Amino acid sequence: MPTLQTRFVDRPMTEADIPAVMAMEREACLHPVHAWSDDNYRSSMRAGYWVRVRCEADSGRVVAVCVAMDGVDEVHLLNIAVARELHGQGVARSILAVLYDRCRQRQAPLLWLEVRPSNEPARALYRREGFVEVGVRKNYYPAAQGREDALVMKREVDMLNGASHALE
Ligand SMILES: CC(C)(COP(=O)(O)OP(=O)(O)OC[C@H]1O[C@@H](n2cnc3c(N)ncnc32)[C@H](O)[C@@H]1OP(=O)(O)O)[C@@H](O)C(=O)NCCC(=O)NCCS
Repeated sequence: MPTLQTRFVDRPMTEADIPAVMAMEREACLHPVHAWSDDNYRSSMRAGYWVRVRCEADSGRVVAVCVAMDGVDEVHLLNIAVARELHGQGVARSILAVLYDRCRQRQAPLLWLEVRPSNEPARALYRREGFVEVGVRKNYYPAAQGREDALVMKREVDMLNGASHALE
C-alpha cells in the first residue's frame, strides 16, 4: 500500500502550474468564489512566498497547493487546498506538518492564518491541528453575495520538538 510519502512529491509551484492548480482548487472549494485567482498565485510567486504544489509521483498531476508568507518570527499561511477526491485522507494535515518544519527552520514560533466562518471543513482542520481563534477581520473576503468576515487563527510551533518530514 503506497504511503503519502511514496504516492506524492512536493515541489515549488511555477507559472505553468497555474491552470491545473486553479482547476483543482475550484473543485475543492465550497464555492468557486472562494478559490484564488491566477493573479493571487502570480503575485505570491513574484513576491518570493513559499508556494508549493503536491503532485502524484507517477502522473505528475497536481493534487494540492500551499502558500505561506514569512514574517519576522512568524509565518502566515495564505492558502491551502487539496483535490476534492483526496479529502479526508490526511493530505492537508501532512502539508501542515511540512509547514511546521519550515517554521522551525526559520525560527518562527507563530503560524497565522485567516479562514471564512462558513468554511467548516477548514475550521475543523485548523482546530484539530491546535490553532486557536484570536480575532475577526470584518468583511475581509469576497463572498457569493457581498462580503464575508475572516476569523484570524494562530498556532504556536514548538521550536525544539518536531520530526523532519520527507515530503518537504
Ligand atoms: C480544508 C481542506 C484543505 C482539508 O483538506 P483534507 O486533506 O481533506 O484534510 P485532512 O484529511 O488532512 O483532515 C485533517 C483533519 O481536519 C478535519 N477535517 C478536514 N475536513 C473535514 C470535514 N469535511 N469535516 C470535518 N472535519 C474535517 C478533521 O479533524 C481531520 O482529521 P480526522 O480525519 O483525523 O478527523 C480541504 O477541505 C480543501 O481543500 N478545502 C477547499 C480549500 C479551502 O477551503 N482551504 C482552506 C482555506 S482557509
